[in-house]
Amino acid sequence: MLNSRKDRTHAFVGRARASTYPEGHPSGWYRLLDLDEMRPGDVRALDCLGKNLVVYRGRHDASYRVLDAHCPHQGASLAGGEVVGNELACPFHHWCFDGEGRLARIPNKDETRDKLPRVGVRSYPVREHHGMLWLYHDVSGQALAAPPYEPEVIEDIADGRLVYRGRHAPGDVQMHISEFVENSVDFQHFACVHGDLTIPWTQIKVPGFGVRHEPDWYVDADVPHKAYFSDKACLKFRGRAMPKSGAQARITLFGPGGTVWFRFSLPDLGDILLFQTHLPKRDLCQEVRFRWYADPKIPRLLVWYVVGHWISQWKADVEIWENKVFRERPVLIDLDGPVHRMRKWYAQFYEAAAAPAERAHRCLPIVDARG
Ligand code: FES
Ligand SMILES: [Fe+2]
Repeated sequence: MLNSRKDRTHAFVGRARASTYPEGHPSGWYRLLDLDEMRPGDVRALDCLGKNLVVYRGRHDASYRVLDAHCPHQGASLAGGEVVGNELACPFHHWCFDGEGRLARIPNKDETRDKLPRVGVRSYPVREHHGMLWLYHDVSGQALAAPPYEPEVIEDIADGRLVYRGRHAPGDVQMHISEFVENSVDFQHFACVHGDLTIPWTQIKVPGFGVRHEPDWYVDADVPHKAYFSDKACLKFRGRAMPKSGAQARITLFGPGGTVWFRFSLPDLGDILLFQTHLPKRDLCQEVRFRWYADPKIPRLLVWYVVGHWISQWKADVEIWENKVFRERPVLIDLDGPVHRMRKWYAQFYEAAAAPAERAHRCLPIVDARG
């Protein structure tokens, strides 16, 4: 027997929902993993953004590299290979590729590097920031030599004013990446979905209490790939607003939603900064991760409360996201937010970079190097 809302709605997992969204994964920076998940010399397969990738960490320099996973020789998965120095050796015939994806050596082949077949695999631009590994993905699927912008370094994390306080891995969510940003302009849903006060980290309502929201949304005047959502919220008790309980949160939408971050400012104590990241595993499947930093003056319990409150609110949205479709022409009324403005902004992430700088060695489909 079907009882809860989740039971009643959690059924639409096929292609029909996916076909309502734009094709391809939008361009931007995406978090692949936390830097402490792999040690130097480790190799890992990663399926995301419509690609089969291999991530490895050099033994000598401990840097991360990301390549297409399949060997140009006979197609073995490099994820089964070994790291040799800063190169990756294929498990099949031990051809070695450098971090740029170029064939660097063939063991037992007594020739200079110039005589090696000029083949390789795609390598992707990656950066290591704030304890996470970031990859730039272009909607075309091609690997760009130079991404159009860099992942943002948050100053007060970089200089140690905010310190690492925790992370949370809720698992995969069956939604499209654009839904998080769509949600930020859906002003009508704040009262309907986020109007209850819940116990942090749960969906358990606190009787008598509610939350009043005053949302706003705007594009950064100087940086085209950034937009902001802000919310002036205050508690309500038995329907009456309690203005003294007011707090303001600002969320930075960085690119298409590969990462967004929340800054909560607590008077006399300092800031909490919470990253929320989305990595498209498949068309309607996001790996979601949270990671947070805080001013060391803020008691850990208070940090836990603030982050847990956000995650409760996020969970309330998930049930909707996991079953909805994309309406190209939604029926909007005056209670709705700036949906058209947001979509115009978001469209930039579906424009492929002009003339992607593919390196010549990536473009050789068949090479007979036997001479
Ligand atoms: S398939 Fe990779 S070296 Fe042969
Ligand atoms: Fe929401």
